[in-house]
Amino acid sequence: MSFDNLLLERDGAVAVLAINRPKVLNALNTQTIRELREAVLELAHDASVRAVIVTGVGEKSFVAGADINELTALRAIEGQEYARRGQNVLDAIEGMGKPVIAAVNGYALGGGCELAMACTLRVAADSATFGQPEIDLGLIPGYGGTQRLTRLVGKGVALDLLLTGRRITAAEALRIGLVNRVVPSVDLMRESKQWAETLAAKAPIAVRCILESVHHGTLLPHAEGQRIEAALFGLATSTDDRREGTTAFLEKRKAQFTGQ
Ligand code: COA
Repeated sequence: MSFDNLLLERDGAVAVLAINRPKVLNALNTQTIRELREAVLELAHDASVRAVIVTGVGEKSFVAGADINELTALRAIEGQEYARRGQNVLDAIEGMGKPVIAAVNGYALGGGCELAMACTLRVAADSATFGQPEIDLGLIPGYGGTQRLTRLVGKGVALDLLLTGRRITAAEALRIGLVNRVVPSVDLMRESKQWAETLAAKAPIAVRCILESVHHGTLLPHAEGQRIEAALFGLATSTDDRREGTTAFLEKRKAQFTGQ
């Protein structure tokens, strides 16, 4: 599958998906959102892919937001559809059933910050910048930002960032819990790949169960979240990989997971 605005490479069990519009700092236009949806579906269904890295082409920007050229012309009903299309794609990333690491190589603003937040984990170059500047365009985030930012960093910090639109450094993003790790820019892809390979070597069904339990369970009351956890624990119990993992521990050897 080939794309105009994305680069998709596979390296063993890890796929690297890069937004490729560097002339506009990888801004997300309608075509890029459409291509992202296709790529995400393909990666979700490809069992040989066990972890995905999302990044931006070039050294300056991860994604500098939705393409403002398209925003200028939107009417209300189109705006609503525009937001829903982006939300659906980011939901598909969050629900891919395998770990997705955002390797944030520069500006992660607006839709770029929202894209990073839809990923499972975030590693940022020390030069990266985050923010939700939509307020300065007379807008609000439309790709899940008001929801995911609030869940990740808490209501007080989220409202500060959403209402001021101010940009924050990678160091501040780490401090508030918006990213998991910050690394020197030159090490970003190496560290992200290492992390992705570690996750790709885990038992895929258990990984999927953890993602599902955290993602769905935390949106529910505690007791219902625990019911989901118990059901998924039961599912993981039934796998060959559970047998292999527990046996390997008792035999004092490294487990070899097959994904069955
Ligand atoms: N949509 C469309 N084009 C964008 C864009 C966006 N979100 N972000 C950057 N670009 C374009 C610029 O218009 C410029 O195009 P040009 O070379 O034809 O003039 C090019 O990318 C380079 O950007 P520029 O602004 O010159 O770079 P900079 O280093 O001076 O500033 C930013 C970088 C990210 C601070 C600045 O581009 C910016 O504020 N972008 C918009 C961020 C935003 O509000 N995102 C939320 C959108 S909802």
